[in-house]
Amino acid sequence: MVRMKDSSRRAIKRRMKRRRFKRISIQLKPSMRGSAGRGSYAKGSSYSKSSYGKFKEPVVAPVPVPEPVVAPVRAAPRRQILLCPGPVNLTPHVKSALAGPDICHREKEFSSLLQSTRLKLVHALGLGDRYTACLINGSGTAALESAIMSCVEPGKKLLVVNNGVYGSRLAQLARLYQIPLLEVRSPLTETPDLSRVAAVLKRESSIGTVAVVHHETSTGMLNPVEEIGVLAKKYRKRFLVDAISSLGAEKLDFTKAHIGFCVGSAGKALHGAPGLSFVLLSQEEAARVVKLKPRALYLNLGIQLRAQESGEPLFTPAVPLYMAFHAALEELIREGIKGRIVKYQQRSVFLRQGFKKLGLKFLLDEKQMCHSLTAMWMPAGRSYDAVHNALRKQGFVIYAGQSELKGKILRIAHMGQLFQGDLAELLKAMKAVLAES
Ligand SMILES: Cc1ncc(COP(=O)(O)O)c(C=O)c1O
Repeated sequence: MVRMKDSSRRAIKRRMKRRRFKRISIQLKPSMRGSAGRGSYAKGSSYSKSSYGKFKEPVVAPVPVPEPVVAPVRAAPRRQILLCPGPVNLTPHVKSALAGPDICHREKEFSSLLQSTRLKLVHALGLGDRYTACLINGSGTAALESAIMSCVEPGKKLLVVNNGVYGSRLAQLARLYQIPLLEVRSPLTETPDLSRVAAVLKRESSIGTVAVVHHETSTGMLNPVEEIGVLAKKYRKRFLVDAISSLGAEKLDFTKAHIGFCVGSAGKALHGAPGLSFVLLSQEEAARVVKLKPRALYLNLGIQLRAQESGEPLFTPAVPLYMAFHAALEELIREGIKGRIVKYQQRSVFLRQGFKKLGLKFLLDEKQMCHSLTAMWMPAGRSYDAVHNALRKQGFVIYAGQSELKGKILRIAHMGQLFQGDLAELLKAMKAVLAES
């Protein structure tokens, strides 16, 4: 083996460095090779504040930025188990779809992604061709806003059956859009009184639409959507359901409930990523909303629906979220909606048995409860923050009470990709945390 002297090795290195520098400098426009540009940019360092103002777009590929020498700081060192009602832990299939190809929303690839996602959504929920879907960029509230402003015709009132934070949000949206509003309110822990709903519907002929939350996530209450829908039908009213936290987790017979508008979110029990929502419309309502006078531009349901039916979104969509939702729907179709519902029921039975053994008390009667979340009174002498922080240290993220229940309850949801072992570990961790003095 020929041994090279240190001095010759250093000379070769110097020559190679000079060659690399030359290659980099010829990639830059002459205007960029001024004294400020050459020193910092050519060496591949990041742009300083002072040189940023002078920076012009390179005409050719940018200089590769060197790999960082230290590992990036991460928010959490291990997998966090999300026990909040969205965002949820995603499956590897959905996660990898988020990092799918870069595509333009004005090209045929996006058009087919959009149409396939809309079709898969109605198919996955077993709605056949009686319903159509309009996807909305934004969290669940964006789709709610879109539906509320489009479901009541001018001169008519909205009746909100309200027993929680999300019922109040429906009413708040109506007020903001100056839609005349009536409410049948019930305390947070009470199921709506159907006879009161019927009495208001009988008395007030000016009501155009009835709205209710299916799973009132602030308490975990499952509201009697079918019964309310039957009343709405009897009095010839339209019917809107906020099923943001129930679609995928609960049985919902759209036909029996006479649902005209159903609002949902990708990022809860449908296992997509957060930030994409939708409205499912009966074909009858879909034909009507496209003719309504718009009350807004971006969130106008009629305009959005018409554009989506033609295969082109109106505005720039959150493309990776569509890809993730499409992947999540593929998984739901493989699993079957019935299978998904049973899985959620099994999780709730398992967890609730465990919670009872730990001596925790439920906020609601078990007959009132949904199958995706359990709300429990804070054990005496415990603060929510202390319990939350202790569980978080062990990788479990639980959820606080809202509004008047803030600090008084804790909520544990079980949506998304969770394993039986995760739930068993949670119960163990809770036992340890509650045993601490
Ligand atoms: C029933 C219900 N409606 C509306 C919303 C609001 O959805 P978002 O926070 O995604 O806007 C939520 C959120 O959890 C919900 O559970």
